[in-house]
Amino acid sequence: MDVALLVKIAARFVHVASAVTLVGGVIVLKCVAPPMTDEMARKWRGIVLWAGLGLVLAGLWNLMTKENPPPGYHMWFGIKFLLALHVLAVSAVAAKQGTPPEKRTRLLGSAMGSGLAVVLISAWLRWMS
Ligand code: HEM
Repeated sequence: MDVALLVKIAARFVHVASAVTLVGGVIVLKCVAPPMTDEMARKWRGIVLWAGLGLVLAGLWNLMTKENPPPGYHMWFGIKFLLALHVLAVSAVAAKQGTPPEKRTRLLGSAMGSGLAVVLISAWLRWMS
């Protein structure tokens, strides 16, 4: 197996594992474990940081190594990117110390909507190319 293929598989793994961790975490915090306390927020912050880093770095790698993207690919990618930034920003605000618990639940609800939309657009990006 050649090295380029191994790197490609590793980048996909990091990206999808980070996506599962972040969006799965958001869903659990919103639907199963609210209200989010400051102690939970402190632990959640590390997950947002590392999963966010994994998503952005491996995502950029996926984008740069994409072969022959079809017409419309970059438009959908742009929409996905903005929604992904929304998920990251809102998750980070929920992770801040002192954010009121009701506000955290609201923020996580909107991160859940955007996160699932991002997964849907990702499936579309995969399918269209
Ligand atoms: C909440 C954040 C994100 C989630 C949940 C997410 C989710 C996913 C998933 C599940 C896939 C795999 C799709 C498949 O193979 O069927 C994927 C692919 C991809 N992601 Fe993300 N992603 C996120 C953020 C990002 C960011 C920030 C970037 C770029 C900087 C990015 C760039 C890409 C690219 C280029 C692909 C390959 C699409 C293709 O197959 O053509 N993603 N993403």
